[in-house]
Amino acid sequence: MKLLVPAAAGIEAVVKRQLDVLGYPNTRAVNGRIAVENCTWTDVARLNMFLRSGERVLINLAEFNVPDFDALYDGISRICWCDWIDRCGRIIVVTKSVDSKLFAHHSIQSVGKKAIVNVLVPKYGFLAENGAEYRVELDITHNVCSVNLDTTGVGLHKRGYRTMPYDAPLKETTAAALIDLTVWNPDKTFTDLFCGSGTLPIEAALKALRIAPGLNRHFAYEQWCCVDANAAKSAAEEARDARVERKLEIIGGDVNKYAVEIARFHAERAGVAHCIKFNLRKAQDFVSNSSYAVNVSNPPYGERLGDKEEARQTARDMGKLYRTLDNWNFYFLSPLPDFERQFGRRADKKRYIYNAGIKCSYYTFNGPKPV
Ligand SMILES: C[S@@+](CC[C@H](N)C(=O)[O-])C[C@H]1O[C@@H](n2cnc3c(N)ncnc32)[C@H](O)[C@@H]1O
Repeated sequence: MKLLVPAAAGIEAVVKRQLDVLGYPNTRAVNGRIAVENCTWTDVARLNMFLRSGERVLINLAEFNVPDFDALYDGISRICWCDWIDRCGRIIVVTKSVDSKLFAHHSIQSVGKKAIVNVLVPKYGFLAENGAEYRVELDITHNVCSVNLDTTGVGLHKRGYRTMPYDAPLKETTAAALIDLTVWNPDKTFTDLFCGSGTLPIEAALKALRIAPGLNRHFAYEQWCCVDANAAKSAAEEARDARVERKLEIIGGDVNKYAVEIARFHAERAGVAHCIKFNLRKAQDFVSNSSYAVNVSNPPYGERLGDKEEARQTARDMGKLYRTLDNWNFYFLSPLPDFERQFGRRADKKRYIYNAGIKCSYYTFNGPKPV
């Protein structure tokens, strides 16, 4: 099987690295998806269980040119759908079209579904469509259709611990990528001075304790009858064995009392409350005597004019704080175009990352190199 792992713009390289660490060194990134060849159900289970920053795990069933709807219908009809979908399967077709002759989503969807049903009905006699869900993705890019079966279901960013609503939280997958892009290791202090619902400190703790992000949730493929039944079980066993206990110093802070309560609650649910201190505190008032620590934050970014000035003031304040904590590495994700000017220093590194569809920069401000 060929698997595809979609990744948010700007973090493809992080997902590739995570795959490498998991034992998949020869992957290829194309159009925001990382392709992993020669996979089995064990790999499907492992990628769903362990990938921290991929968005989902898709099985690529076919790829063909689609100059018109006949070609779309024929291409989908050539797939042996009975190998994948059982008589009771609920088939959901989702579509994507980029720079292609076929772009009407509703028509692509109905031609796709008709082609699948017309393969299955002669084999099964009838389709009940009251069982497990099979989400079939038709991704048409530059007139090439890629037919993919989604093994994940609810996206991989939903680890299951974040249940309380909060304004503008980071996706867990993005938070994990931001952490992977830092020099942090679990021997160092980690802080997020604008922690909101707690995503960054919690993801840091999960990574440090090697708690698999998929351990406390289910995936769509687990309900399918075509799957090797041992795959999910052995991935869960591997995940339970991987967990370690270690002393950590992870600190989250926020000026909003409600945020701090939610963050604590989420940390409890994620099983990492014992290693994170959450404080109700203005970031500007932060003091520490830790050396070689790392702060990762996405500070507030106002959409309205007044809020924007506040966001600039926050950037100026963080520049001042950075100068008092001179062995620290600071990382900020912000869409503010003049963040560096406000911070008072050019960033050592700047990467573009999309957060909730907004183009942001991820700024690295290094402390001095340890001597
Ligand atoms: C964009 S949100 C962070 C979201 C967070 N990463 C998450 O995943 O939930 C920014 C947070 O900064 C907090 N904040 C705003 N000004 C602050 C300040 N001066 N000091 C500390 N926290 C502040 C807000 O209350 C808000 O929770």
